[in-house]
Amino acid sequence: MKILVTGCCGYIGSHTLVELLNNGYEVVGLDNFSNSKKDVLDKIEKITGKQIVFYECDMLDKDNLRKIFQENKIEMVIDFAAYKAVGESVEKPISYYINNVSSVLMLLDVMKSFGVKNLIFSSSATVYGMAEEVPLKETSFVGGTTNPYGTSKLFVEKILMDLYNSDNDWNICIFRYFNPIGAHSSGLIGENPNGVPANLMPYIVKVAKKELECLNIFGDDYDTVDGTGVRDYIHIMDLALAHILGVKKLCEVKSGLHIYNLGTGKGISVLELVNAFKKVNNVDIPYKIAPRRAGDIAECYASIRKAREELGFIPKRGIDDMCFDAYNYVLKENENEKN
Ligand code: UFG
Repeated sequence: MKILVTGCCGYIGSHTLVELLNNGYEVVGLDNFSNSKKDVLDKIEKITGKQIVFYECDMLDKDNLRKIFQENKIEMVIDFAAYKAVGESVEKPISYYINNVSSVLMLLDVMKSFGVKNLIFSSSATVYGMAEEVPLKETSFVGGTTNPYGTSKLFVEKILMDLYNSDNDWNICIFRYFNPIGAHSSGLIGENPNGVPANLMPYIVKVAKKELECLNIFGDDYDTVDGTGVRDYIHIMDLALAHILGVKKLCEVKSGLHIYNLGTGKGISVLELVNAFKKVNNVDIPYKIAPRRAGDIAECYASIRKAREELGFIPKRGIDDMCFDAYNYVLKENENEKN
């Protein structure tokens, strides 16, 4: 099975690539390095002992995309390539819609012309908008997204539904990710965004490294276990493994449109995550309580029953593993930079 992985050097793409290679799949990778680094490919080779066929390519470049399909007998596509910063998407909606929606249309058109109809698409829990019920089920209300990033994911989900309705031969799996954190246990690949991070775990990591002084906890007066926001954090390697299950599912069913939540099904509060991080890594995380962040909700966690029953998805790593591996990655990255 030859699989094209778009955005293969990004955070979720790179970890999934490791699992695909370890599970014996042939992979063709594509990335334009808009939010990733070239050395990720060497690191993946170091972890797996395997090389991939790689193309530096922007998905909006249809001629190049066609070339990849001409040169390789692609049977399935896993599409990770997208911008993902919520705040930035509000500033740059046109870029987000071009990059996250138009590029998928290009990809689908090329796939169709080459008769490739197997697709796994990276969506997000953000499509549930202000989440009216928890745990969120795949059948829960979607819509009411509060930023162009979220709306771009919602639009693509709708496009895929229309596509499937137009031609039932398509075989599509939509994964709605909750909050992936952590890193590969080698410490070679992980997430370490440039600048001040917008998300909780990368921020905690920078405070632990004393690159940032103090964590701002956005609100302690929510109706939750300790007043801080509750989310469904999932270890990146459990998320990566889910893609193997997705590939197997598509091979088995041959056609259909399947939607799955990918989280752990357990809500963790900001304070619980901070305390776990402190304990596991034996570091201090100074914090102060700040006002609520606009657009945040009190609780967001998944029902993963459908993924468990239909894919056999059982996340194995707990919050301590997530905290350990997230910090291990940045410590190793520092060591590597020094050497
Ligand atoms: N938080 C803080 N301080 C920070 C950063 C975050 O207290 O410096 C809190 C937030 O208020 C929230 C929790 O930590 O309660 C998690 O926040 P994140 O920004 O890490 O994650 P979100 O749940 O807000 O959003 C993430 C991704 C989205 C994705 C969504 C899916 O950023 O792209 O998960 O549920 F859509």
